Order: sequence, then C-alpha cells, then structure tokens
Amino acid sequence: MLIRRPPKISPLEITPEASYVTRRRWLKQAGIVSAGLTLPMTPTYAGLQPDDDITPERIATTYNNFYEFGTGKDDPAEHAHNLTTDPWTVTVSGEAKKTGQFAFEDIVKGLTPQERIYRFRCVEAWSMVVPWEGIELSKILAQFEPNGNAKYVEFKTLVRPSEMPEQRSVFSTIDWPYVEGLRMDEAYHPLSLMVTGMYGKPLPNQNGAPWRLMVPWKYGFKSVKSIVSIRFMQQAPRNTWNRLAPNEYGFYANVNPSVSHPRWSQASERRLPSSLFNPNRRPTLPFNGYADEVAGLYAGMDLAKFY
Ligand code: MTE
Repeated sequence: MLIRRPPKISPLEITPEASYVTRRRWLKQAGIVSAGLTLPMTPTYAGLQPDDDITPERIATTYNNFYEFGTGKDDPAEHAHNLTTDPWTVTVSGEAKKTGQFAFEDIVKGLTPQERIYRFRCVEAWSMVVPWEGIELSKILAQFEPNGNAKYVEFKTLVRPSEMPEQRSVFSTIDWPYVEGLRMDEAYHPLSLMVTGMYGKPLPNQNGAPWRLMVPWKYGFKSVKSIVSIRFMQQAPRNTWNRLAPNEYGFYANVNPSVSHPRWSQASERRLPSSLFNPNRRPTLPFNGYADEVAGLYAGMDLAKFY
C-alpha cells in the first residue's frame, strides 16, 4: 500500500499559511491552471506513522545541508538567497533518445505537481516530516526516452562559484559539482519525487530551488539539490559522499537501523524539533518506514555490503 492517511494530522496543520496565491502562480507556470480554474491539491501521506507530526516550516528551511553555501546548518538560509534560479537550464545526456539543453519550465510544463508528506532522514541522525510538492521523477525522466542501456541516472548540482561561496573556498574538500545517482528502477519508483515546492510554496533556494530530488527511503544526502544535469548511464555514477569517504557512504544509502555508520549508530533518530530536555529520539525504521513499498527493489541483496 502506497497511501496511508493517519487520522492525527489535519490538513490545516499541513498548509499553515493560505498558499492559494503562490500555488496558483505555480500551477499556472506548470500549465495546469487556465482562465479562472484551479485544481485542489490533495496531499498524499505516504509511509507516515501515527505519531509523525509535520515539522515546523521554520526548521525545515533554516536547518539545512547545502555545502555549496557553507558547512554550517544555518549557512544555506543565510547565503542561498543570492542564487539566481531563473533562467535555469538543464543538460540531459547519455543513454536516451532526447538529449540536449532544456529550459526548466519546458521540462515541468504540463506535469501535475502533487503534495506528498514524506519523512526525511539525514545520515547525521536527525529527521523531519515535510510536505513536499513535486512531480513524480519517472514522469520527468520518461520525457527523454531513456534507452535499454540506461541502468542508472546521475544528477549534478550547479557549479557557480560567484554565487556559491563554498565553491570558492580553498579549504573545501568537495570536488564540485555535487553528484548523486539512482538505479533506474529506484528512479522510476512512484515514491521518488522531483521536488519543486514545500509547505505550499515554491521551493526556497536553501532547500534546492528550482528543483531537487526526494527519495524518502534513503538518507538525505541522496536528495541532490538545484539540479542542472541529468545523465542516463550504464554504470553507477560515483556519488559525492562515496568519493569523499567510501567506507562511510555507499551508493545505495537506504535507511537501515541495523547498519551503523562507522562513527555512529543509525538505530535511532532525533526528530526535529529536539532539544537537550526533549531530545525527541525515536527508533529508526527500515527503509525509513517505506519498507512495504520498496524492500522488493533490493530482494536478494546483502544490504550490509550494498550500504
Ligand atoms: N545537494 C547539494 N547540491 N549539496 C549538498 O550539500 N546536501 C545533502 C542533500 N542535498 C547537499 C545536497 C544532504 S547531506 C542532506 S541531509 C539534504 O540535502 C538536506 O536537505 P534539506 O536541507 O532540504 O533538509
């Protein structure tokens, strides 16, 4: 079962501010609204547990990882407003029929965004529950007609040192651009989302505007932000964190409480907001709570080896 509706969360909590206006603009951009007509956006609660409350928007937009803007959790919110996201060009290459350079608007045009409430689990052991808005990744990718040799898909973030301070830093250990990838069957799984908004608004720069991945059963580092390149490949791409520390970060990065990070356990997580007095710790679930939907993708694989 893909869709569950826990009774505890009321729709009012999910869209705290009336986002009618921004939504309408967004839908219009995507070619979904015409002359006075709007479509209601009904959120989908996927894989949520009864005690999963929506994380306050302020936390999800100010406690971030986006190393291009600095290594501190507050650096992205402080610096990412300088990023120019319009115009935005995406290069598509590799094992597909339609390759080349595409304007972001042309790729998303006519595709219906959906609101999906997903759990999000960072490898650093904090977690959130966020109302993401986006388009099923399969629908984005299918437009380019990948061929039979396409076994993996690679995504790259923008390189623009003039707007991304950490890309100018001589102390940075990351070899830019930030790279991530998925196996094609993972990318085509209906839970995989290309996110274009959150909390009923267009995606803030610090969260990866104009679009970023969201693969809810994987650790957060798979959710590459501000994507400018999509490449269909025969071999698995080397992802950024795997290149930096191969014994700590693998390609698959499936949330797995029984496989520890070499420097810390992954058995539990700190649900934000959390504090010294209320750590809000809870056990981590296999595949981040999405096992029913995705465990079959890894049948027969040793998940301690393919971490
Ligand atoms: N994408 C880029 N381009 N650069 C990054 O540093 N950090 C990743 C991922 N995507 C990162 C990135 C990590 S480690 C996490 S946990 C999530 O983004 C954080 O997403 P959030 O800030 O929206 O919560």
